[in-house]
Amino acid sequence: MNETIDLMLAHTSVRRFTDQPISDDELKAIISAGRAASSWKNFQSYSIILVQSEEKKQALYDLVSQPAILQAQAILVFVGDHNRASKAAQLHEMPFDAKGVENLLISSVDAALAGQNALLAAESLGYGGVFIGMIRHKARPVAELFQLPAYTYPIFCIALGKPAEQHPVKPRLAEKAVVFSEVYQEQGPEAIQAYDQVQTDYAGSRQTEKWSQRMVAQFSQPEQPETKALLEEHQLL
Ligand SMILES: Cc1cc2nc3c(=O)[nH]c(=O)nc-3n(C[C@H](O)[C@H](O)[C@H](O)COP(=O)(O)O)c2cc1C
Repeated sequence: MNETIDLMLAHTSVRRFTDQPISDDELKAIISAGRAASSWKNFQSYSIILVQSEEKKQALYDLVSQPAILQAQAILVFVGDHNRASKAAQLHEMPFDAKGVENLLISSVDAALAGQNALLAAESLGYGGVFIGMIRHKARPVAELFQLPAYTYPIFCIALGKPAEQHPVKPRLAEKAVVFSEVYQEQGPEAIQAYDQVQTDYAGSRQTEKWSQRMVAQFSQPEQPETKALLEEHQLL
């Protein structure tokens, strides 16, 4: 339809990179494009930590052993951030309470929009990348590694670099299972089975378990405790 939509429709996560660097100008453009995203009341309730040093990449990899972290030419760590808001409260000598689900949604949504913008910008320049949300499973040591203060928390990072692999685009759920007209339409198990088959056909021999089994693994047990613990420590819950 147009170049922008074509780029969006061609998206695939990239987890292996060559050693071709991303120039400073390109990184600046990627980050600026990220920061151009909309945000709740223009609060921009996130911060981005740019990681390029081998020491920091290795330290993060030691916590979250995903090869994309080591191979990336740059990592953008997205931090949910109400710390700046606490400074506004100080400025106006007002009480400050950032605790609660709504405030977490504000910062998480803002960060996600900025992250997606940044990844698309990187893809438009011929780079690839992957969101890594698993850093939340190590939320406390990750917070320590990046010296995150009160009212902040790690949400995800994006590993970026020149793709050393190319996968076909991953098919999405059927449109009728996700996009409804006027009112919500609850789906039956057949929608899940149908997409399991789509995913099996897509992944072929690379598949280790069905798509629905991955969801069951996530939702059949209590949530991982690290995020909640860190949020409590940082006075956000
Ligand atoms: C918030 C978020 C966190 C993610 N975390 C990880 C991760 O920790 N490791 C990983 O390999 N992929 C991660 N992904 C990538 C997804 O697995 C991927 O986007 C999804 O399978 C769809 O594939 P595609 O991006 O290639 O279309 C994450 C994606 C999102 C949006």
